Amino acid sequence: MNNGLGLLILLTIFVFGISLIFSALSFAPWVPCRSRDLARIFKLAGLKEGQVFYDLGCGDGKLVIYAANHYKAKAIGLEISLPFYLFCRLRKIFNFKADINFKFKNLFKEDLSPADVVYFFGMPETINKKLCAKLKRELKPGAKIISYTFSLVGWTPKIIDKPTPNDLSIYLYEV
Ligand SMILES: C[S@@+](CC[C@H](N)C(=O)[O-])C[C@H]1O[C@@H](n2cnc3c(N)ncnc32)[C@H](O)[C@@H]1O
Repeated sequence: MNNGLGLLILLTIFVFGISLIFSALSFAPWVPCRSRDLARIFKLAGLKEGQVFYDLGCGDGKLVIYAANHYKAKAIGLEISLPFYLFCRLRKIFNFKADINFKFKNLFKEDLSPADVVYFFGMPETINKKLCAKLKRELKPGAKIISYTFSLVGWTPKIIDKPTPNDLSIYLYEV
């Protein structure tokens, strides 16, 4: 193999690797929510046309695309891991008509005040130590928070959705 190409491949692997490690430490590693749970998540979200939906750490972008295509929401996905962000951008090409905005951004640096619904699948420790205070500070009254699998310590959920013991819990909070 040509030396230049080898170096480029190594550099790409290095950048992607660092990016994945940083994202895992910052909020959560990439573990996708189950596709069969999308209907439960969006039933709780109760999104209306034109409302602003955020996925904080959007991974492969499937919730953002679902929100825009099924509910005509203004859907925003924040992702700090470069390979996943690039994958989301690729998916946007095939969903060019929908109101989708993928941002290569640290979720802790985004102003969440325009949000009507905020969804995330984070680690309990980072949710409670880092994210809860930001949600309290920035979200407008009436905004909905949906946390997949993990609850927010000290907050009272409006609904805990867990239809069967085999299902993961989905928590709905309202500001
Ligand atoms: C558990 S996955 C959830 C993916 C998707 N939201 C879902 O529910 O299927 C967490 C995602 O958050 C991303 N992430 C971690 N820290 C982040 C940060 N500080 N800013 C933006 N994204 C972050 C990870 O790269 C990963 O894709």
